Amino acid sequence: MNWLITGGAGYIGSHVVYETLRSGRDVIVLDDLSSGIKSRLPDGIPFEEVTLTDRDAVFAVFDRHKISGVLHLAAKKQVGESILHPDYYWEENVVGLQNLVDAMAANNVANFVFSSSAAVYGQPDLKFDDLVDEAANCAPINPYGETKLEGENISEKCAANSDFSVAALRYFNVAGAGKPELGDQSIFNLVPIVFETLDRGDRPKVFGNDYPTPDGSCIRDYVHVQDLAEAHVAAMEFVENSGAIFMPINIGTGTGSSVFEVIDKISQVTGSTMEPVSAARRNGDPAALVANVSRAKEMLNWSSKRTLDDIAKSAWEAWQFNRK
Ligand SMILES: NC(=O)c1ccc[n+]([C@@H]2O[C@H](COP(=O)([O-])OP(=O)(O)OC[C@H]3O[C@@H](n4cnc5c(N)ncnc54)[C@H](O)[C@@H]3O)[C@@H](O)[C@H]2O)c1
Repeated sequence: MNWLITGGAGYIGSHVVYETLRSGRDVIVLDDLSSGIKSRLPDGIPFEEVTLTDRDAVFAVFDRHKISGVLHLAAKKQVGESILHPDYYWEENVVGLQNLVDAMAANNVANFVFSSSAAVYGQPDLKFDDLVDEAANCAPINPYGETKLEGENISEKCAANSDFSVAALRYFNVAGAGKPELGDQSIFNLVPIVFETLDRGDRPKVFGNDYPTPDGSCIRDYVHVQDLAEAHVAAMEFVENSGAIFMPINIGTGTGSSVFEVIDKISQVTGSTMEPVSAARRNGDPAALVANVSRAKEMLNWSSKRTLDDIAKSAWEAWQFNRK
């Protein structure tokens, strides 16, 4: 099987590339290197430097390669930027996806794994120990989340009209590194933000300490990127062996960690004594967002194996490696 991996030079995509190769499948990477890093990729795999918004160029990739399935990770992912530039996010994430699925349909490629996000759930009204399952109402609260939900809607139509077999993986909070050179070099998520604060000799900020959670800070579900990469292999197997189907699947651990707990874990791992500073709540942060992971277990026979400790240690190793 030849799988086209869009966004394969990215943080998550590169982990997925290595895991897909390990599963015995062949890989072609499509990436415009807008945030990707080509040296993350193993030597010798076919690489197409193409942007998904260039429809002709996307179709031409399907002319040049025999493709049996697509793992679609390429997207813009910064919530704040999406609020400032919603049209740009729509063009990149929705028009780009439409070009891709049109090229798939024109070439009878029906196996599709889509990187969705827990952002599709928006701000569900949950108690701190409730879990969100895939049947929950989807009501994104920012343009980024809206583009992910629209990506799911388009994929669902492809399942109905073009017999696509789709797994839409709703990732929760991804962190850690499978190997240091693949680490997340962007500073948009809690773990790299805390590292960056440490490097500056500053104190990490906790936005809101009065949420209805045991320690007052927000609770999220942190999943190790290597577990996530393994989930993609399970999802490829799932779509390869299914007929026309659209299946959204939460990819998390089923266990929440608060912001204070994550900062505490990072203190232990880095050997630093950081006293977090409490700041005002940010708009749009739900108190808790933790995945119900039963569908992933049932449909993909996948569950996470790695802990918050594994995440913090591997992320710190990667952070130091990339700052040498
Ligand atoms: N990192 C997270 O916590 C998280 C959580 C939920 C969902 N996701 C989703 O996972 C996917 C991968 O995220 P990541 O963290 O690896 O981000 P990343 O920025 O490291 O990777 C995205 C990759 O896509 C490429 N790309 C972007 N726009 C493109 C376009 N128009 N055409 C071709 N290539 C393009 C970039 O060059 C990059 O290599 C994204 O779809 C993101 O929305 C990420």
